[in-house]
Amino acid sequence: MKISVIGTGRMGKGLVQVLSPFVEKIMWGSRSSEKVLGLVEAGKYEHVKPVETTEALQADIIIHSLWFRDLQPWAIANEKTLAGKILVDISNPFTEDFKDFTLDWGTSAAEELQRLLPNTTVVGAFKNTFFKVLEQPIYQGQQSDIYVTGDDESAKRIVMDLLDPIPFRVLDGGRLMNNRTIERMTLFEREVAIRYGNYPYISYRMFGIGN
Ligand SMILES: NC(=O)c1ccc[n+]([C@@H]2O[C@H](COP(=O)([O-])OP(=O)(O)OC[C@H]3O[C@@H](n4cnc5c(N)ncnc54)[C@H](OP(=O)(O)O)[C@@H]3O)[C@@H](O)[C@H]2O)c1
Repeated sequence: MKISVIGTGRMGKGLVQVLSPFVEKIMWGSRSSEKVLGLVEAGKYEHVKPVETTEALQADIIIHSLWFRDLQPWAIANEKTLAGKILVDISNPFTEDFKDFTLDWGTSAAEELQRLLPNTTVVGAFKNTFFKVLEQPIYQGQQSDIYVTGDDESAKRIVMDLLDPIPFRVLDGGRLMNNRTIERMTLFEREVAIRYGNYPYISYRMFGIGN
């Protein structure tokens, strides 16, 4: 399966850093081919191909790193190209001051994205993982959790298998509607991390499961 990451911001960079040692080939797409080429060279990534966003959309599994406000028009513009693909959604629909959600209680970014793209399979992941944790995933010998969500069980399993080797504990987070909770958990962990002075190095680990 062809894998791509879209975007060269904080999460885009972190996702490529964490995935590249374990994924045979990644296409890394950006609106700026110059920027993504420079990042690939600087990171000395052997298995990462810098591409235009349009080429990255040809992958079977596309991990985007857009803000939810940019994601909606992007999804509408690319609906046909994204049909039949798995789109991994990492977005959290927060206001620009990170004080609140931009969506009502009865929905989530992942569900709204799925609604916009009925012919694409949306799988949620990395929503609670702040970018600094992607740079340094192990904290005091422990890995943090990634809750993978989706209404299509086989697509969710494909993404869980893809993420399995990375230094995180990959857990089945259930249905897409669980993102109503998962996305809000990110706002909560951010607030607590700021209070305790370790923001933006923050992620969750659920106590009592497995190892
Ligand atoms: N920051 C975190 O720690 C964190 C944690 C969990 C989840 N998230 C979620 O991850 C997403 C990205 O966060 P971030 O902090 O990485 O943001 P960021 O640093 O601002 O990066 C966003 C990237 O999206 C791409 N982009 C922006 N507008 C676009 C458009 N119209 N079309 C195509 N690509 C566009 C850009 O990449 P190019 O310029 O290369 O095209 C940009 O670098 C958000 O949805 C956020 O809720 C973030």
